[in-house]
Amino acid sequence: MITIAVSSFKGGTGKTSISLNFGSALAQFHGKKVLFIDFDAQANLTAGFGFDPDSHESMAAVLQKKKTVEEVILKTDIPNLDLIPADTWLERVEVTGVLAQDRYSHERLKESLAHLDYDYVLIDTPPSLCWLTESAFIASDYSLVCATPEFYSIKGLQRLSYFMHYIAKRHPFEVLGVALSFWNHRGKNNETFLEVVESTFPGKVLDTKVRRDIAVSESAIHGKPIFSIFPKSRAADDFEALTKELLEKMECKAALH
Ligand SMILES: Nc1ncnc2c1ncn2[C@@H]1O[C@H](COP(=O)(O)OP(=O)(O)OP(=O)(O)O)[C@@H](O)[C@H]1O
Ligand SMILES: [Mg+2]
Repeated sequence: MITIAVSSFKGGTGKTSISLNFGSALAQFHGKKVLFIDFDAQANLTAGFGFDPDSHESMAAVLQKKKTVEEVILKTDIPNLDLIPADTWLERVEVTGVLAQDRYSHERLKESLAHLDYDYVLIDTPPSLCWLTESAFIASDYSLVCATPEFYSIKGLQRLSYFMHYIAKRHPFEVLGVALSFWNHRGKNNETFLEVVESTFPGKVLDTKVRRDIAVSESAIHGKPIFSIFPKSRAADDFEALTKELLEKMECKAALH
C-alpha cells in the first residue's frame, strides 16, 4: 500500500481536483484499489464525489477512537474507489477529546491506516501547515506538491519545503513530484516560474501540466471525476497523462528499493 499526501501551502492550487482525478484514473484505467481521505474541513473532495459532508462521519471520529476506520469508509459509484469523507469537526480535532492530551497525536492517522488493504491511499490536505497536514505527511510515503504559475503560489513552495524537511527528519517521506495546474503553455513567465520551482524542489517538476479547463469545476459540481462527465476534455487528457507519469515514477522507485 502506497500513501500519498496531496499538499500545498497556498489555497486553490488544484489539490482537490488532482486528488480526485488522479485517484479515479488509478482505479478506472489502471485497475488499482484506491482509498481517498478527505482531510480538509472544507470537504471539497467529499462534495466532489457527490456526498453531503454533514451526513457522514469523518476521520475525526476514528482519530478520537469513537469509530473504526472501516466504519467511516464510503463506497463511491466507481468500483475500487472508496472515500473517507471530511466534516467541520476535522478543523479542531487535535484540541478536542482524547487527542488534546496525546503528545503523539500526529501519529494516529498513520496508525489508523496501517492495517488497510488498498493499492493507494490519497490524502487531500488543507491549504495550511497545520496539525492535519503534518499528520498526513507522517502517514505518507510520498507527497504530491501542487502549485499554480503565480507568484504567491510559487513563494508558498519554499515554506512547504522547510516544513517537509522538518517532518522528514523523523518520518521519512519523499516528494513524488510538483504538479502545476491552471497551466497556460503560452504564459510569458513560465520559464521563471519553472526555475523557481526547480530551485526549491530540484528535479521534481512533473512533465505533465494540467491546463486550465472549465470541465474540471463542472465535473466536480456533478459529483463525479472528469472521466465520467467530460472524458474528451483537455483536462481529462492531462489528468490521465499525469497519472501515467506518477505511476511510472513510483514503479521506478519501487524497482530501485
Ligand atoms: N485545471 C483547472 N482548470 C480550471 N479550473 C480548475 C482547475 N483545477 C482546479 N480548478 C478549479 O479551481 C478551484 C480550486 O481548485 P481545487 O479545489 O482543486 O484547489 P485546492 O488546492 O484543493 O483548493 P483549497 O486549497 O481551497 O483546498 C475549484 O473550483 C476547481 O474546480
Ligand atoms: Mg482542496
